[in-house]
Amino acid sequence: MKRLLPALLFLGLLALGQSPGAKLYSANCQSCHLANGQGVPRAFPPLTHLDQVVQAKGGREYLIRTVLYGLQGPLTVQGTAYNGVMPPFRQLKDQEVADLLNHVLATFAKSKAKPISAEEVKAQRARALSPQEVLKSRPPVK
Ligand code: HEC
Repeated sequence: MKRLLPALLFLGLLALGQSPGAKLYSANCQSCHLANGQGVPRAFPPLTHLDQVVQAKGGREYLIRTVLYGLQGPLTVQGTAYNGVMPPFRQLKDQEVADLLNHVLATFAKSKAKPISAEEVKAQRARALSPQEVLKSRPPVK
């Protein structure tokens, strides 16, 4: 028992530690989209509907592009209109963008989609899109 206790404590602490994706989300996205991804109506869209986006044709590419290049222009998410500016996060590494999106998809959107890979992020980085062009590539998901 004496030896088991520190081991159990250690395991408990490990479980409390956040995943890399969760940490990246707190540091980069939470200020606008909030801790639970609910967003702020008419200012910052929620991220809870993203399972529909990731499953749609071109949806995986679109999500990666929003993080790499930002997003700007009018869009409607779940019946609420937005016309804001999301900044680009080009400074994040390919693996970080993948971890971040996979955290958002699994946690907020309860998505079972195949996880986004660093290779998929790399392929989108080779383009130089404006935030308006990213919006044009959004799949037609309400
Ligand atoms: C400064 C505020 C801000 C930050 C920080 C921010 N976003 Fe956004 N995000 C927005 C705004 C505003 C929009 C809507 C843009 C528009 O109206 O065209 C948006 C839109 C999105 C969309 C598109 C949703 C859809 O249905 O098309 C995704 C995905 C997204 N953000 C993910 C993220 C992630 C992931 C991060 C962290 C890397 C992040 N955002 C950080 C403000 C922000």
